[in-house]
Amino acid sequence: MKQSSQLALVNELLELAEGIAQRAGEMLSIRPENFDINEKSSARDFATHMDHASEKLIVAEILAARCDDGIIGEEGANRESKSGITWVIDPIDGTVNYFYNLPGWNISIAAKDSQGVLIGIVYAPTLNSLWHASRGGGAFLNGRPIHVSNARVLEDSLLATGFSYDVAERVRQGEQIAALIPRVRDIRRLGAAAVDLCHVASGSLDGYFETGLKEWDLAAGGLIAREAGALVSGRKGSPAGEAMVIAAGPALHALLTEEIG
Ligand code: IPD
Ligand code: CA
Ligand code: CA
Repeated sequence: MKQSSQLALVNELLELAEGIAQRAGEMLSIRPENFDINEKSSARDFATHMDHASEKLIVAEILAARCDDGIIGEEGANRESKSGITWVIDPIDGTVNYFYNLPGWNISIAAKDSQGVLIGIVYAPTLNSLWHASRGGGAFLNGRPIHVSNARVLEDSLLATGFSYDVAERVRQGEQIAALIPRVRDIRRLGAAAVDLCHVASGSLDGYFETGLKEWDLAAGGLIAREAGALVSGRKGSPAGEAMVIAAGPALHALLTEEIG
């Protein structure tokens, strides 16, 4: 594809995703009085009717604008691409926070092509924050360029992580945290993986690690973190994925990989 038409495509996808994320955010910001809940892998893992309503809105708006695109959505949307572009959607990342009326829940929308994630948007209405990035085009928070922190030692590093919905995995994660907590500035569990990755991108966290992330947790936030200068990998430099995600600036990433990778 010519450079100018690639740029036009990136701008079209970013504009579309930003508008959709904002409309989904407006809908979600009007909290329902009651929630219909459906349990997923365990009692800890659930979706509300608002997760489904958000996915429905996002999918309808994407297809109204680009009917040949593919879709992968956490709440079940699944459509093969005829255009080469596939959208990866988390309609509410941080459902538990949303349910308890805690901040940080967000709408995460990415679009990928044959070379990987091309654009990503993470919109967190409760934080007044909209992050975006495109491959090779840098990362931005509310329109301003962002960069990872330059943390170089564990002792001065503020980290975040998350806990799995799987109990056995939680026990392993607890052991890992117990070993790490005496050696770092502190560890946060904020409750939304996409925002954790974006906080690394904008330097509000020095690093982040978690096991068990799915493609929709990682797609947009992972691109935003990379474009802001983070390394985002799995264990020992393997690709980031369900087995492990470690995100931090290069110096801290090397230390974290040694510690937990
Ligand atoms: C979850 C959140 C949480 C993380 C979990 C994710 P969901 O996403 O991002 O912070 O620890 O791994 O599954 O289920 O609220 O979309
Ligand atoms: Ca999620
Ligand atoms: Ca979700």
